[in-house]
Amino acid sequence: MSAQDTHGSASAEVAARVERRWATIAVIIIVVMAGLAAFAGIHRATMPQPRVETIDPSRIHLSGEFVESNLGSVLEASGAVTVRAIGQQYSFTPACILVPADTPITLRATSADVVHGILIQGTNVNTMLVPGYISEQLMRFTRTGDYLMPCQEFCSFGHEGMWGKVKVIDKTEFANRAKGGGRLSCVGQ
Ligand code: CUA
Repeated sequence: MSAQDTHGSASAEVAARVERRWATIAVIIIVVMAGLAAFAGIHRATMPQPRVETIDPSRIHLSGEFVESNLGSVLEASGAVTVRAIGQQYSFTPACILVPADTPITLRATSADVVHGILIQGTNVNTMLVPGYISEQLMRFTRTGDYLMPCQEFCSFGHEGMWGKVKVIDKTEFANRAKGGGRLSCVGQ
């Protein structure tokens, strides 16, 4: 055996050793990640949901909280605001949600058909609208202005055209508009 052959087999051995080491590390990473995913999934599944509200999506327009006349924003006696909205292929009702700044707001929404999503750009408001369930999310806006509200769950061919808007106005102006009672929105404004 020549000196060159000895050298060649030695470096092949080193290469094999390094390769084995990295293969072991890669396998460990995969096992750890699979373990984490399994733990998170099982842990979540065993936790009770804090609250689940169900609703019959085929009847929401006929009676109850989500009839058309009850959709929009309402100023509660406590000074807080409740917004009710529905998503359907391919729009939100109301398409423009009117809310006051610096006010605790409860958004309550559901879907009339398939899964949709509400995302208010520039905020952390992001929730799915699942038919049969009421989604509730608390929010508060510090700045007045218009915020885009795209549907963030693919809901078939018109998904990319499903947009709404949130208009945040001054608290006093909102209170003035709310005086007349009823439900407020900024549709057509
Ligand atoms: Cu509704 Cu996407």
